[in-house]
Amino acid sequence: MRSKSSSKFSLEKLIESEGIGIEILHPGGLEITKELAELCRINENSYVLDVASGTGETACFLAETFGCRVVGVDYSAYMVKRAREKANAKGLDVEFKVADAHNLPFPANSFDAVISECTTCLLDKERAIREMVRVAKAGGYVGIHDVCWKGDVPEEMKIRLAEIEGEKPETLEGWKILFENAGLADVIAIDRSSLIHEWIEELKKQIGILGQVKIFLKAISKWGFESYRIIREVEKIYQSPYIGYGIIVGRKC
Ligand SMILES: C[S@@+](CC[C@H](N)C(=O)[O-])C[C@H]1O[C@@H](n2cnc3c(N)ncnc32)[C@H](O)[C@@H]1O
Repeated sequence: MRSKSSSKFSLEKLIESEGIGIEILHPGGLEITKELAELCRINENSYVLDVASGTGETACFLAETFGCRVVGVDYSAYMVKRAREKANAKGLDVEFKVADAHNLPFPANSFDAVISECTTCLLDKERAIREMVRVAKAGGYVGIHDVCWKGDVPEEMKIRLAEIEGEKPETLEGWKILFENAGLADVIAIDRSSLIHEWIEELKKQIGILGQVKIFLKAISKWGFESYRIIREVEKIYQSPYIGYGIIVGRKC
């Protein structure tokens, strides 16, 4: 179960079903992943869960950088397959499972750190955060980085982002409150909004003109010409001053 987009087309659907040719599906690259890991006190003794692990880039990076034990879960079988192939190619012992973030297949109090990058805004946020807290050990950390609303956001923009992409961001303060309401202590919220606008430009460069044309063609062949207009609409929302980005971390008592 997730907060579904109601439009037939979304970039998120394209990413989940067949990828768009990029490995890291969040702003800030592996630098923000390292920052999140450090805030969650990840070290060589940690047992870490990456919720919505995508192509497995973060899980492999954590295992390589910190020498910790990592499990990644994602509900897309396509993503889990790619992540397993990546870990195998790198000779890393990282496990990946198909699972829903709202119903994690782990007993309570299992992990020293539970993280999720750029995904919670797609989910039933309260339920997903509750699940992350449930599977974290007492004294362990729960941390995310995610999209935030900023300023006086037009209501229509919120409605369209939810309709198209199924994304329901919070303000940075709103994310902090959700973490506190889930019982987490010492919650910190760090504004990293500059990363999101840089990311859009970086993504375009990484994908290249040919890659962008391929994405449009894929979208048009699957969902028709309307999808071109919708991609542009989402791009405009993401380039607006109302979109920010933040890191939120709390400790389970
Ligand atoms: C924007 S991508 C982020 C991937 C990865 N965390 C990263 O930063 O590169 C969102 C990911 O969430 C996964 N996802 C969406 N809904 C999910 C759910 N209910 N449970 C688990 N994974 C989910 C998608 O398959 C996709 O891999």
